[in-house]
Amino acid sequence: MKLELAEWSSKILVGLPNIDAQHRQLFDLAATFTSDGDQIRVMKSLAMLTEYVKVHLREEEQMMAACNYPGLEAHRELHTEFRRMLFTLLENAKRMTLDEIADEVKYLINGWFYNHIMVADFDYVPSVKSASAAALATTEPRPAG
Ligand SMILES: [Fe+2]
Ligand SMILES: [Fe+2]
Repeated sequence: MKLELAEWSSKILVGLPNIDAQHRQLFDLAATFTSDGDQIRVMKSLAMLTEYVKVHLREEEQMMAACNYPGLEAHRELHTEFRRMLFTLLENAKRMTLDEIADEVKYLINGWFYNHIMVADFDYVPSVKSASAAALATTEPRPAG
């Protein structure tokens, strides 16, 4: 599937600060992949990217579950697909040129992941917001007396 590539912009802010910060961090890290540099550093960055992605996806899944988001299962499957694509890249990277690695990272983050945020992540936001509003309402301190 051909995906359009896009840079990080405020268009992909979902309005949940920790999630937005994690998304931003992934785009920033992806932007460091270029055709020059040394293979060892690139492999380290790739391992780091994979780790950050894993942490982000896990946190998102926990948050969606905690909010009883009805689309959780379908969203989880998309995450599984994304993890699989990243692990495949991590495995194949040793046999790839820096150019090829940079292209693949771009495809995964600026293509697939960008699109995932726009479509799938934005979809859970109302559930998360109403669940946190409900939680706030029940934990609000009662006025004394
Ligand atoms: Fe996300
Ligand atoms: Fe997601």
